[in-house]
Amino acid sequence: KIDWRLPRHPVIKRGTPFLLCVLDGWGENVEDDYNGIHKAQIPTIKALKNGAPKRWRTIKAHGTAVGLPSDQDMGNSEVGHNAMGAGKIIEQGAGLVDTALRSGNLYNDKGFSYIKEAWSNGPGTQHFIGLISDGGVHSRYDQLAQLMKGCVERGCKKIRVHGLTDGRDVAEGSSIKFFTELEKDLEALCKQGCDARVASGGGRMYVTMDRYEADWKIVERGWQAHVLGEAPNKFTNSVEAIETIKKKNPETNDQYLPPFVIIDKNGTPVGSIKDGDAVVIFNFRADRVAELSKAFEYQNFNKFDRKRWPKVKFAGMMQYDGDLKLPKHFLVSPPLIERVSGSYLVKNGVRTFACSETQKFGHVTFFWNGNRSGKLDHNFETYQEITSDLCPFNEKPKMKAEQIAKVAKDAILSGYYDYIRVNVANGDMVGHTGDMAAVITACETVDKSVKVMLDAIEKVGGIYMITADHGNADDMAQRDKKGKPLKDSEGKVKPLTSHTLAPVPCAIGGSGLPPNVEFRTDLPNAGLANITSTFMNLLGFEAPADYEPTLLKW
Ligand code: 3PG
Ligand code: CO
Repeated sequence: KIDWRLPRHPVIKRGTPFLLCVLDGWGENVEDDYNGIHKAQIPTIKALKNGAPKRWRTIKAHGTAVGLPSDQDMGNSEVGHNAMGAGKIIEQGAGLVDTALRSGNLYNDKGFSYIKEAWSNGPGTQHFIGLISDGGVHSRYDQLAQLMKGCVERGCKKIRVHGLTDGRDVAEGSSIKFFTELEKDLEALCKQGCDARVASGGGRMYVTMDRYEADWKIVERGWQAHVLGEAPNKFTNSVEAIETIKKKNPETNDQYLPPFVIIDKNGTPVGSIKDGDAVVIFNFRADRVAELSKAFEYQNFNKFDRKRWPKVKFAGMMQYDGDLKLPKHFLVSPPLIERVSGSYLVKNGVRTFACSETQKFGHVTFFWNGNRSGKLDHNFETYQEITSDLCPFNEKPKMKAEQIAKVAKDAILSGYYDYIRVNVANGDMVGHTGDMAAVITACETVDKSVKVMLDAIEKVGGIYMITADHGNADDMAQRDKKGKPLKDSEGKVKPLTSHTLAPVPCAIGGSGLPPNVEFRTDLPNAGLANITSTFMNLLGFEAPADYEPTLLKW
């Protein structure tokens, strides 16, 4: 039986209004011309760093510190928010899939047996849908390659890949490299007697990988291309498809590539999805494949007209939502994230307000609560989503930061909530566009919004913690091994659209914080999981004993 009671903190008073603000995609990095945060005017956030050195520090937000397989892995929002919400370093999807493939356990589990029925007992095709890159955020191509090989070794005779181009977790333009590798690997499988081909594709931000129901049209485009075999662009090979579409539409890129379908000599799609086939989504991360999973799995589905709903054996690489049991079948069990901070806090009567805009709403709720959808306790929590714009965010770099700040301010001033948790998305979402000018506006908007929230906290004599989930806006240039920015043939610096490996800042303060409370100095390698005990202290509690240690001394 779990003891949910939390002892009171010896010096920090329970009930002092507390703001926890996550700046998405905001790392502490080398201050050069390509650091969008450094180039922006951010007096509020600078003052946190310079004004109170004992209440400002950096923490690790990438690699093994957040449960990723290696320290070459950049951080991301899923693992970052999981760690901050859970207070523990949890081995994440990427590593769990690696282990299941390496040990071969994946092939002995019931998920694989289920999909295998389609082609071992019947004539079904094995389809794979997902992101083709080595980003390691949503998927990894080497895992797909191993899985396809594993299927062929187990008798699979027909494979179709529906691949999404990345350019967001990896460099723009790298899709050609990854699809060339994919085509080569499929050719090798053909030589082993499996008819293996790419069947359809498109850019991840325009086709299939929407999140948090921001825009179902994206998923509909994917359904049309992958399932129905319908897209305006038809080709006989995926690399040719990407190259030709880009030549015809110079403004497009890997992230936003229009959908394409691969056809045979007669013009028939080579891999539309039919009754009796097996479909596996090979992404391990949930947010951007939950919608497509629903389209495959739900009998009652009204988000778009599926036209045809094939009866397939459908599985995810992981189960993406444990509460919804979505999907029912999966190849690898997801990380079990138990006894998250939110569960303790509601059970100790902490009135919580969580808010972000659509693009990050599930980050401060679903990911924060250990990948649980819905609230932990309706009596103690209010969740507010602010609808995100539907455009590449360099077109509207202010995003909804001002609205989030306003809503948070009202929640702080209401006097009702103990704990106001927000995520401000701009550094990340605009950082992913690679547009430096827009990133500067984004960071300046974030700074002003933080000021609004901090002013409100000051008014009520509260406490704040400002931190971030991983880097992004802090480096906007691709670099060589020595750190020198890479240039294209015209001499322009190649933009970096992905996250960075930088640590993130963590600042605490507010007039409600007793004067002696400051960061301890004996945990220089602390990571995001250490902030959980820290903010539980700031809420007036001692943290559970098995959480990563607090960063505070008093
Ligand atoms: C995305 O899904 O937008 C990127 O792959 C990762 O960004 P996030 O981890 O910040 O959401
Ligand atoms: Co991001």
